[in-house]
Amino acid sequence: MDKERIVTAMSIKEDEDQTLRPQRLEQYIGQDDIKEMLDIYIKAALKRKEALDHMLLYGPPGLGKTTLAQIVANELGVNIKVTSGPAIERSGDLAAVLSSLEPGDVLFIDEIHRLPRFVEEVLYAAMEDYVLDIVIGKDHESRSIRIDLPPFTLIGATTRFGDLSAPLRDRFGVVFRLNYYGVNDLEQIVRRTAGVYQNDIEEDAVNALAKRSRGTPRIANRLFRRVRDFAEIIGDGTINKEITDHALSKLGIDHNGLDHTDYRYLKSIIEKFGGGPVGIETISASISEEMTTVEDVYEPYLLMEGYIKRTARGRVATEKTYQALGIKYYKGLFEK
Ligand SMILES: Nc1ncnc2c1ncn2[C@@H]1O[C@H](COP(=O)(O)OP(=O)(O)OP(=O)(O)O)[C@@H](O)[C@H]1O
Ligand SMILES: [Mg+2]
Repeated sequence: MDKERIVTAMSIKEDEDQTLRPQRLEQYIGQDDIKEMLDIYIKAALKRKEALDHMLLYGPPGLGKTTLAQIVANELGVNIKVTSGPAIERSGDLAAVLSSLEPGDVLFIDEIHRLPRFVEEVLYAAMEDYVLDIVIGKDHESRSIRIDLPPFTLIGATTRFGDLSAPLRDRFGVVFRLNYYGVNDLEQIVRRTAGVYQNDIEEDAVNALAKRSRGTPRIANRLFRRVRDFAEIIGDGTINKEITDHALSKLGIDHNGLDHTDYRYLKSIIEKFGGGPVGIETISASISEEMTTVEDVYEPYLLMEGYIKRTARGRVATEKTYQALGIKYYKGLFEK
């Protein structure tokens, strides 16, 4: 199961270290295009003394969506109310949180693709006109009442943009897609984390950590904490390359940043399905994993790094995968 994985991008309990979360836009590393635009939108909203447009943040887990939402609230100098799609089961739950907002506040809805449809419909009028239409009473006794809301900013976050309904998507004035971080950005994140924890770290160790973090700040910070343990117990506290490599290999992460779960997935394509193309349902079943986990958590990094390709007929292993597995590569029938 993915829960045991050190390189999973999904959040695990110990990840919620608030001291590592950048609080201001200028401390947020990478995603330069987003930061540049956001800076302008925030300044414009402040200048006009208006609520910022509703904003949708999407992208793989651990890239900084929640962090960015909190930064927006800090920069605007407003409160942030945090909830999530699955937590809002009835329209009353939404009404309660909406009516607690003060002018200009940020309402952050995580996993917004999981909002029940009838709750979503209540949200439309709230987003467009800052009103809350609620039905009270039952059957022929029922009537609808309208409550005015203060202007507010909804920030929605999702890892599954495609699962969002079109009407909801269309109501966001600003849509940002977060991308995987490059090694330079991850190096900066690792250096910043070392600074926050007051650990000495050598530059080649910074680089080794950044390269194995799968483009994901959450993983960089998690690996950092593990390597720091090794440095403090078997070394003198300084994080150097030797300790880093030792710790990472103990954690089952190879020099490519891949772990046994990646290899299980890649081996399945090559050994059971001749290198593909093979459908994602079939692969998921063969490694006994949920299809959504495979699609959202295992595959994005492998796709980005070119270990697999997505074709109309299914997933195909690339030459890089054969090399990583030490298997001789014959150009596939379906490759151009
Ligand atoms: N740009 C960044 N600069 C520095 N640190 C970052 C950045 N983005 C994320 N982090 C770190 O990574 C951690 C995970 O980020 P965050 O929780 O915001 O991800 P997320 O996109 O909301 O993930 P999920 O999809 O699981 O909700 C944060 O606690 C923070 O320490
Ligand atoms: Mg989050």
